[in-house]
Amino acid sequence: MGVIDIYNASSLCLTKPNNGFQNFVVPQSQSHRPSCLIQGNGRRVVAMASTVPSSIEHINEVQQSLTGDSFIRPHLRKLSPYQPILPFEVLSARLGRKPEDIIKLDANENPYGPPPEVFEALGSMKFPYVYPDPESRRLRAALAEDSGLESDYILAGCGADELIDLIMRCVLEPGDKIVDCPPTFTMYEFDAAVNGALVIKVSRKADFSLNVEQITDVIEQEKPKCIFLTSPNNPDGSVIDDEDLLRILKLPILVVLDEAYIEFSGIESKMKWVKKHENLIVLRTFSKRAGLAGLRVGYGAFPLSIIEYLWRAKQPYNVSVAAEISACAALQNPTYLEKVKNTLVQERDRLYNLLKEVPFLNPYPSYSNFILCEVASGMDAKVLKEDLAKMGVMIRHYNNKELRGYVRVSVGKPEHTDVLMDCLRRLS
Ligand SMILES: Cc1ncc(COP(=O)(O)O)c(C=O)c1O
Repeated sequence: MGVIDIYNASSLCLTKPNNGFQNFVVPQSQSHRPSCLIQGNGRRVVAMASTVPSSIEHINEVQQSLTGDSFIRPHLRKLSPYQPILPFEVLSARLGRKPEDIIKLDANENPYGPPPEVFEALGSMKFPYVYPDPESRRLRAALAEDSGLESDYILAGCGADELIDLIMRCVLEPGDKIVDCPPTFTMYEFDAAVNGALVIKVSRKADFSLNVEQITDVIEQEKPKCIFLTSPNNPDGSVIDDEDLLRILKLPILVVLDEAYIEFSGIESKMKWVKKHENLIVLRTFSKRAGLAGLRVGYGAFPLSIIEYLWRAKQPYNVSVAAEISACAALQNPTYLEKVKNTLVQERDRLYNLLKEVPFLNPYPSYSNFILCEVASGMDAKVLKEDLAKMGVMIRHYNNKELRGYVRVSVGKPEHTDVLMDCLRRLS
């Protein structure tokens, strides 16, 4: 690592990154000068030799046989793409229904959206042409007030997703290991693959609680760098009890506690714990709680000894002006946020009771804004998802082995529940 300063190097004339073919460096002592030109920003390198030396001819041959993917890092060439849900417009075209006629219960979005202050703030945005504050100062101050944790411990990101990747980029060397506890949010595994890390999976127990004994063994034997824990867990909605969390925090591993859905659990966030646990990071988001999934704002609480490096490594303008304005405006109306949360929690409980009555579904109790259901009695989970989609109701179905035979239903408005139940009755 480091910088090769071509302008000041006495023996190097021309360098190129290692792109799968040999790094080529032409010593200046060779007689074919000038053999290179470094333009403007020092990035472009152009061969200028009038009598082409054989080394350059060889390079030209190699270049002609190059394909673009030879520039890609080897571990990424093997990466399976993340499978996101379909955008609303694409879905709408595919189903032949207007977006407003689709009941979207597949991505745990908050159907109530943000408070009116957000629309007002976006409409009167004064400086969209100026780069945002790289330190998101206004937002972090508002979050400090909201969470009771000083803003020095808080860093905002382009969704919690960005922070998961940023943490991995700061912590993991290629070949390092992380612990993942499936079934859980699949971005941990995905980002680990992007960052060249190995994933050790310690499956959850049948009731979706953590297998702390096995986690302890794996940490002792495999020496992974960090573990991702989700509470409430996506997709089942179970929470991690304090005793289990404290046991894991005592182990020599960085614990990333993802609290994307904590508001729906009635349990207090562990953000303040980062002051006493040097190995704890807590992640949260505006996507669920404040209905801002489309604007991409997440945040994390970090020990001071860790946050310093995230500041150094993050993209300077990772939280857009619109995102910061929206998140601040949402926090200005805590009454709205509380009311929406309570409405969703109430609807979750109604939905759970209704799903229990469907003969081919076994729903799991949830502390979040979604309910996982086992699909039983000869009904196929994929067929169920597809049949509901044809009726304009989207739910989440899984292809991975841990969740084959399960579907997840996000909690919507009462009228969404009513349509879903109607469709399920038709399929019974
Ligand atoms: C557990 C979990 N963490 C993080 C995220 C991503 O949050 P954000 O929208 O802030 O990137 C999600 C999104 O579904 C999630 O389920």
